[in-house]
This record gives sequence, C-alpha cells and structure tokens, in this order.
Amino acid sequence: MTQPAPDAHASDTPVAFPQARSCPFSPPESYARMRERPGPTRAVIPSGKEPWLLTGFTDVRTALSHPASSSDARHPAFPALGDGEQQVAAELRPFIRMDPPDHTRVRRMLVGEFTVRRVREMRPAIEAICREQAEHLLSLPTPADLVSEYANRVSTTVICRLLGVPMEDLEFFRRITSVAGARNSTAQEVGAALGELFALIDRLIDEKAEDPGDDLISRLVNGPLAREEITRHSLLSQIGITLNAGHETTRNMIPLAALDLLRNPDQMDLLRDDPGLWPAAVDELLRHLSVADVITLRVATEDIPLESGTIPAGDGYIALLGAANHDPEAFPDPERLDLTRTQRNHVAFGYGVHQCVGQNLGRLELEVALRVLFERVPGLRLAAPLEELPQRSASTIFGLDEVPVAW
Ligand code: HEM
Repeated sequence: MTQPAPDAHASDTPVAFPQARSCPFSPPESYARMRERPGPTRAVIPSGKEPWLLTGFTDVRTALSHPASSSDARHPAFPALGDGEQQVAAELRPFIRMDPPDHTRVRRMLVGEFTVRRVREMRPAIEAICREQAEHLLSLPTPADLVSEYANRVSTTVICRLLGVPMEDLEFFRRITSVAGARNSTAQEVGAALGELFALIDRLIDEKAEDPGDDLISRLVNGPLAREEITRHSLLSQIGITLNAGHETTRNMIPLAALDLLRNPDQMDLLRDDPGLWPAAVDELLRHLSVADVITLRVATEDIPLESGTIPAGDGYIALLGAANHDPEAFPDPERLDLTRTQRNHVAFGYGVHQCVGQNLGRLELEVALRVLFERVPGLRLAAPLEELPQRSASTIFGLDEVPVAW
C-alpha cells in the first residue's frame, strides 16, 4: 500500500468511481464537491484499485505536464476503468498508453497528418460527407436516431477516408466499431470485434504496400514500416487507436453538441447572426461537454507536487478533464454555455505530451457536421424526453446511445 498524500483526503472513505452524470451536458455533480476540498480525492474503481482524482484546473494541468506522469498501462497501479482494458493496453501498447521516448517516436510519425494545413485541405471532402449524411437523415421517417443515422455515419466516413479504409469496408467497420463501443457488449464480443478490426487493418497494410494511395496507412506502411522504424505489430496498434480515438469522440460529440445548442436558443441566435463565431462555439462546446473526461489515466512514477497536495510516487491517478473545464476559478459560471467566452485554454483535448494529436481535425469535423446539420435540417428538434435518453456512461468517451429527432 502506498503512503497517502500528506494533505489529501486520505482518512476519508474512498469515493466510488466512475460516477454517472445527472445531466448529459455537465460532468457529475460530485466533482464540484470534491474540488471544494483541498487536495486530491481518494477513489475506488471497479478493479478495487484506489487512484487519486484531480478536479482543479491548475492541478490537472500541473499533473498532466509533469515528467513523472506515466501513461504506461503495464504499471500495476494503472487505474484502468474497464474490464480487461489494462491487459489489452499492456499487450497492444497504443501510443496513447506509452511514455517518452517510445511515445515521442510514434507520435512524430503521425503528427504531420493532422497539421492545420493538412486538415484545411480536407474541408471540402468533410463538407461533402456531411451534406450526403444530412440528405440520408432527411430521407428517413421521423423520429430518426441522430447518433446512428448522422453522427456515426459522418465520423466513420471521415476517419476511414483519412486512413484509407476502402469505402466498401465502411459498413463492416461501422458494425465492428458499434459492437466494440456498445454498452451492452460482453467482453467476449468486444474481443471478437477488435480481432476483426485488426484483421481488416492487417489486410490493408499488405494492400497498401503493393498499391499505395494518398492516405495515412499508405504513408505509414511505405515510410516508417518499410524503413523498419516501427514493427508491424506496433503499426497495427497505432492505426487501431487512431481509428478508434478519431471516430468515437466525434460520434459522441456531434449529437450532444447539437442538443446543447438546441436547448440554448440565445446562443443559436448568436451563431445565426455571426457564422464567424463557429470556431469559438466548437471550443466552448468541447469545454462544456468534456466527453473525454476520464481518458487521462496515469501513474505517478515520482512524487508529483500539486497546488493542492502531492500525488505520492507509485500511485495511480485520474486527471478529470470535465472537472478542470468546469472549475469556476478558470471558467466563471462554468455550467453556462457561453459562445462568447474569451478563454480558450480548456483541457477537453487533454494537456501535456499526450494532448490530442487529432484536435485540428476534431474541431473542423465538429464545426462542419453541426453547421451542415442546422442548415439542411433547420427544424431539428429532440423527439423524446431528455431524461429518457440512454447514456453511454460505461464507455471511456461520454455520449448518448440514441437521440431520436424530428424536424
Ligand atoms: C473531437 C473530439 C475529440 C476529443 C474531445 C479528443 C480528446 C482527446 C484527449 C483528451 C486525448 C488525451 C488522452 C490522454 O492524455 O491520455 C486525446 C488523445 C488522442 N486523440 Fe483525440 N480527441 C478528439 C478527436 C480526435 C480525432 C478526430 C482523432 C484522430 C483522427 C484523435 C486521435 C487521438 C489520438 C491518436 C490520441 C493519442 C495522442 C497521444 O497519446 O499522443 N482524437 N484525444
């Protein structure tokens, strides 16, 4: 057992974690109570481990940018929340769960794919994809599900286009990712779906070595893999995590962001009056909704001193991004969606060396998907009581399973 942080809530009973949201647009209410007390909070997670929870904006940023902050899932104290998650991450070693210098080497291979210029070049293709999917939505009887009939179709098409997954494999990709990400899938079903995903990527690696295209997998196969800078096993994992991280986040954000705007008509009016506000709106929606709240699982390899206490060496911790983004010290009146907010330093994309490598693409995709949706479906409205919408609270990225809409 590790030594408690000197001024943390060591004497308290650990709080059960993860916790559900009572409102889909805000992180769990308990975060505010934890933040009011000095020091990290001791939690107990389903595996029985007891990591610390960080809830203050400054603490979260300090810890995530500290060199002793490890993302390596092979560490015994790694605070994985899902069943089997630690074992899978330890075996596959996706770079989101690696430390420098290994992490730096892999990230350098990918970062050029997501520069502002590269992503800007993708704008016409993303607009065409969103328009096509809005037409698909409009062709359906109401109520229709905004998650499966729009958001998921947009996010899977964009990520497959970027990576070079052929369009004929798109339906197959949609099916396996929906099983892998579903709340009611068993560990066995998730394992089988991941196996199918890896078999697909494995096949694509061979095809793109023979016949390269203008896509991310082709460039990795004919660059770092051909030069033996990365093993085939590692390349499979890195492509797998990029597909997954790039698809699930935007799939979950699009419907939540659409509902958040619909329930704030004053903010929608601002966007109608000044479409130049869209980029700022996307950042405020990212802050407000903080869908990747619990993704930042870490272990302190040395003592990490924080403003509010110390994380002792060897302990696991979770830097709660939603809590940091709703810290009133950093964002006054944090529960309010305010598209005119001037602070852009939210941590919805994380902080430190793992800060989201796909954030330029994520921002653009959200902007285009929401703009096209409201332009093509101006009468969009929620067709079920908000309280009845099923939450994906068991998954790492928060979202709603189904959002019935009409127009
Ligand atoms: C738009 C919504 C998105 C959100 C809210 C989001 C959030 C995040 C967060 C919080 C992290 C940091 C994880 C950590 O520190 O442990 C991260 C990392 C990552 N994201 Fe995103 N992301 C989004 C979109 C995307 C897209 C579109 C892609 C790719 C196409 C992507 C690919 C990745 C990858 C590969 C990492 C790992 C980076 C590293 O470890 O160096 N994300 N994301």
